[in-house]
Amino acid sequence: TALGPLTVVSNRLPVVMRQRGGSWKVEPGAGGLVAAMRPILERQGGCWVGWPGVVEEDGQGWAGGLQRAGERAGYALEPVTMSRDQYEGYYEGFSNSVIWPLFHGFADRCTFDAADFEQYRAVNQRFAEATMRCVGGEGLVWVHDYQLFEVGQRLRKLGHRGRLAHFLHISYPGMENYAKLPWRRELLRALLAYDLVGFQTARDVRNFVRCAEAFGVGGVLRHEGGEALLVAEDGRRVEVGAFPIGMDFQGFSERAASSEVEERVRALQDEIGAYRMFLGIDRLDYTKGLIHRLRAFELMLERHPHLCEQVMFFQLVVPSRENVSEYRSLKREFDRVVGRINGRFSTSGWQPIRYLYNRVNPVELAALYRLAVVALVTPLRDGMNLVAKEYCACQVDENGALVLSEFAGAAAQLGEGAVLVNPYDRETTADAMARAVQMDEARRRIRMRSMRRIIAESDVYQWAERFLDRAVEGPQPGEGFA
Ligand code: G6P
Repeated sequence: TALGPLTVVSNRLPVVMRQRGGSWKVEPGAGGLVAAMRPILERQGGCWVGWPGVVEEDGQGWAGGLQRAGERAGYALEPVTMSRDQYEGYYEGFSNSVIWPLFHGFADRCTFDAADFEQYRAVNQRFAEATMRCVGGEGLVWVHDYQLFEVGQRLRKLGHRGRLAHFLHISYPGMENYAKLPWRRELLRALLAYDLVGFQTARDVRNFVRCAEAFGVGGVLRHEGGEALLVAEDGRRVEVGAFPIGMDFQGFSERAASSEVEERVRALQDEIGAYRMFLGIDRLDYTKGLIHRLRAFELMLERHPHLCEQVMFFQLVVPSRENVSEYRSLKREFDRVVGRINGRFSTSGWQPIRYLYNRVNPVELAALYRLAVVALVTPLRDGMNLVAKEYCACQVDENGALVLSEFAGAAAQLGEGAVLVNPYDRETTADAMARAVQMDEARRRIRMRSMRRIIAESDVYQWAERFLDRAVEGPQPGEGFA
């Protein structure tokens, strides 16, 4: 197997350097990519190339703190820096105002700007150069996510000789959306520069293969379900596959069962009283369907009035991409809708929705997951969604229910155990929420147990091993699809 020191390249490092009160502090990075990759690097060691959350104009004062964070973590952190202009064009602009909305099916939220694409390319070049410094042009390099499509291509130009693999954590759009991208051929070529391209689901693989075919970049030699073999314009073979990402099941369930978390669960239970808790945990992002979720919850209270003063909804919102305007306006809208619903339904002793706009530590997180009778994971589109899996992993009492969007990658794996909803369908979602919170315990247990089994059997370590084995070996004759 390929397990050993790794070279991982992603925009976000597992830590973010932040200036607070004149000194530099190390804070954990948010999001699914970091949550999944951190335990892998901790176990295997190696080098993580990424952006430390600062721009060149901030100076160099953070460098010592970052190095010490790497020493504590047990692997090297190789920082990639960029100017404020580059950061705005590459990260806020092209990555998060073009690819992010487009790949999640929100073409109308895209701001296409050729200057941003130029910055994206310049920053991808910087990542490639930093990676070369790390690996000296040899060995397997594993590049992650949509911010860094061009790193493989650029590594080849810089003379890298080892194998190159890419994993996309977000969904890949259908042809009709992808076609809107002015640089659609360039980005297909960029992905075909890798030896292995991994996606979350068979549907993403299918979308990618169709786009490559439609825009005449590379040829399709084979395609069957979640696997495909393509040929790039230079004749190289490119393997494409579905590798649904997992999480650290054992780590999460052990923490959830610890006495520290149990104590915290009891304290929180005292605070919320006898109310049965719905829980949502999301970065503040329009793909997460937060407004749709609130409105479905509202309709549930309206249609099932006996649930008033019996349930409450706690939503943890993790700040994200606060400089991108689409995210700022979402915060205002979220506040307004929560206020309106609470204004409409609250009684002297009961408030239906409580929310916290912050990040919480792992103990608090596990306690919330354990306490929730129902988790609401209702994104409008999501590559996988690890909150769904973390919730089940922390449900050590096995009596919670999961309301899950059909449009999360996780639905393909957990479909039978979860209560699946179309988050755009407010009526059905509202009824599903009511059904989940009133489901009899025996049924909840059977479903939770089956989801926990699936998640435990395909945890993040197995995911990495499967992906890396593939990346190292390349296509095997007769394997999977002859
Ligand atoms: C998603 C993306 C990651 C990203 C994370 C957090 O999970 O797939 O690449 O790191 O969101 O977003 P941010 O922009 O803060 O890195």
